[in-house]
Amino acid sequence: MTGQTKVAVLTGAGGGIGRAVALRLAADGTTIVGHDIDVDGLAETGDAVRSAGAEFLGCAGDISQRAECHSLVASAVEKFGGIDVFGCIAGISNAQHFADLDEATWSKMMSVNTSGVLWCSQAAIPHLIERNGALINVASNAGLMGQAYNVAYTATKAAVVAITRSTAMEFMKSSIRINAIAPAGVDTPLTQNFKLVDDADWSLIEPYAGHRGMSKADDIAGVFAFLASDDARSMHGAIVATDLGSTAG
Ligand SMILES: NC(=O)c1ccc[n+]([C@@H]2O[C@H](COP(=O)([O-])OP(=O)(O)OC[C@H]3O[C@@H](n4cnc5c(N)ncnc54)[C@H](O)[C@@H]3O)[C@@H](O)[C@H]2O)c1
Repeated sequence: MTGQTKVAVLTGAGGGIGRAVALRLAADGTTIVGHDIDVDGLAETGDAVRSAGAEFLGCAGDISQRAECHSLVASAVEKFGGIDVFGCIAGISNAQHFADLDEATWSKMMSVNTSGVLWCSQAAIPHLIERNGALINVASNAGLMGQAYNVAYTATKAAVVAITRSTAMEFMKSSIRINAIAPAGVDTPLTQNFKLVDDADWSLIEPYAGHRGMSKADDIAGVFAFLASDDARSMHGAIVATDLGSTAG
């Protein structure tokens, strides 16, 4: 795409990691199509991206719906002619004792964290192939290890790992690159508003809370920018741990 402005579509762009990624890519002049259910957050990201000198198109909606994912991709392609980078970043989390997990919580977590990635991938991949583009999913260390009080979230993120690997295999003979980032704790509204179960046994949480504190959203954005760049041309089907060592052993 030498000489042509790149176009990145990012879900979850209304805050946290999604906003940090939008600003990181905008700093290099990438046009951003941001999606989020949080209209005000999305508008703030749009202002920040434009202040950085890049174009921004905001699309508000619920990413858990297949039609919404396909319409997001169609809007981006219609407005900017194609897509070079797609980031499946939107997600929610929720902790509970396994016995307290109810059907509504399970369905919501699966539909936002997993169906959102699945349907966005389905919609975006044909367009990314046209531009030798990159699809980057945000999974979690929760998709790579067991985590007490986190069965639903870990299941949704393990599914994101599986979607990443299986789409990477199915599109192995095309030019697209499909990878995922797997952070541990990142300082964002998601963790700031996170409520652990009241009577948590900390000895069970320590293995996944890690020893080095939390990452910043900008740290994750840096890895995302690398995966989106030509420097990562040999990376396809990788799950990149950005977890301060929490899955090291
Ligand atoms: N913060 C962490 O510690 C951490 C760790 C590992 C993985 N992650 C993953 O990183 C991604 C981003 O998380 P974050 O920390 O930036 O969280 P965040 O809450 O700051 O941002 C998530 C964004 O997704 C949006 N969103 C939620 N539900 C949506 C829906 N149905 N439709 C459209 N948008 C929706 C929210 O409005 C929000 O702007 C998530 O997939 C999360 O699971 C976060």
